[in-house]
Amino acid sequence: MDKNSLAARDAAAIAKIQTLRFNPLAATGGAGSYLQDEDGRRILDLSASATAAALGYGHPAVIEAMTKAAQDMAGASLLMIPNEPATALAEQLLAVTPGEGERRVWFGHSGSDANDAAMRVASAATGRGRFISFIGSYHGCLTGSMSISGHTAMTHSLPRPGLVLLPYPTVYRPRFTPEEVLAMLDYQFETTCPPDQVAAVFIEPILSDGGLIVPPEGFLKALEARCRQHGILVVLDEVKVGLGRSGKLHAYQHDGLTPDMVVFGKGLGGGLPLSAMIGPAAILDYAPAFAMQTTAGNPVCTAVGGAVLDVIISEDLPARAAAMGEKMRAGFVKLAERHEMIGDVRGRGLAIGVDLVASRETCAPVDATMTAKVIYRAYELGANFLYVGLNANVLEITPPLTVSEAEIEEGIDIIDRALGDAASGVVADQSVQAFMNW
Ligand SMILES: Cc1ncc(COP(=O)(O)O)c(C=O)c1O
Repeated sequence: MDKNSLAARDAAAIAKIQTLRFNPLAATGGAGSYLQDEDGRRILDLSASATAAALGYGHPAVIEAMTKAAQDMAGASLLMIPNEPATALAEQLLAVTPGEGERRVWFGHSGSDANDAAMRVASAATGRGRFISFIGSYHGCLTGSMSISGHTAMTHSLPRPGLVLLPYPTVYRPRFTPEEVLAMLDYQFETTCPPDQVAAVFIEPILSDGGLIVPPEGFLKALEARCRQHGILVVLDEVKVGLGRSGKLHAYQHDGLTPDMVVFGKGLGGGLPLSAMIGPAAILDYAPAFAMQTTAGNPVCTAVGGAVLDVIISEDLPARAAAMGEKMRAGFVKLAERHEMIGDVRGRGLAIGVDLVASRETCAPVDATMTAKVIYRAYELGANFLYVGLNANVLEITPPLTVSEAEIEEGIDIIDRALGDAASGVVADQSVQAFMNW
């Protein structure tokens, strides 16, 4: 590798603890659904920067909002001084997120900090110190949000004491039925985890990093009912699949939930650092100076958040995601006729998982090396995406919500070829060694 290349300079200067790389792409620019690599090659981004680029790259509404807010900046912080874009975005989020009673909005920079703030304030306000979450869940990489995450790649950090981790039931390759999971929870409540010690349950409406798993019908609703019985707050982590991606504005609406608190991130900022958390005033007004970050809620990021939300709603991107997602899933189902490696195609809207298997009969996952090879080869052929799942065998496809039909076809064609090439040994083991980091 040329030592002056961006990739080489990145490797020499950027801390590995902050990276999760799936291919050698080093981006020098981006427009719409495409990133540009160092050789000027256009790479179709079927990940949308892990869903952060909800409207793709360089969307005019984002550029306009960012430029306008930066040209006449109403401070750089929400801590000590209110600003119009933050207030307006909070009002807008409250208006589009169903809920009863007085509610408030908290702003942060990332899904991690928003989940962190949510758990800390839920605990302080209820006087309860325990949480429930799921094996395979990912709520963030800060001390708090990581401590309630259950991803197998994160066992370098200990879970929070008192955490109850439940299996997330699956339809494909089932291990525990929804009823069994609920029975496990009941047993915990009866024995070592008195429910009045539990502040909240954190739920991903689609278990994303845990394998793009859509919950079996009725499961989350039954879990919600259990929590209601015991005064346990229901917190919906919509960071990855919220705000239109699932085909509805809120992914939890597919399951008919009425959460107490909702956490947004990633796509809300359209690529800028922005997260938000909505909850009852009785909780989020718990005490001033409780969850502060100086530049959170700054007018530039919140102006962009407002513009992103406007586009999502005015252009009905949830409906578009539903339609485009259906088209894309149909494309993968068709590929499955020719590629034995595809065991399952699932998801909602433009949050799609392609589960790769070594055997359709047993549903045994492919070796992680094979998944990495498919992704590497797809990059060579012009597309970027990543893998998820406790067995590192699920292709996660989350293109920008603005992706076109032609781009979907291009993406499917590239993955078609990548599957074939990876299966026939075109990619060497050593090519992917650096790209199997979770
Ligand atoms: C469901 C979910 N919650 C929280 C996070 C953390 O968000 P961030 O990386 O912006 O801190 C992620 C990131 O992947 C996520 O998928």
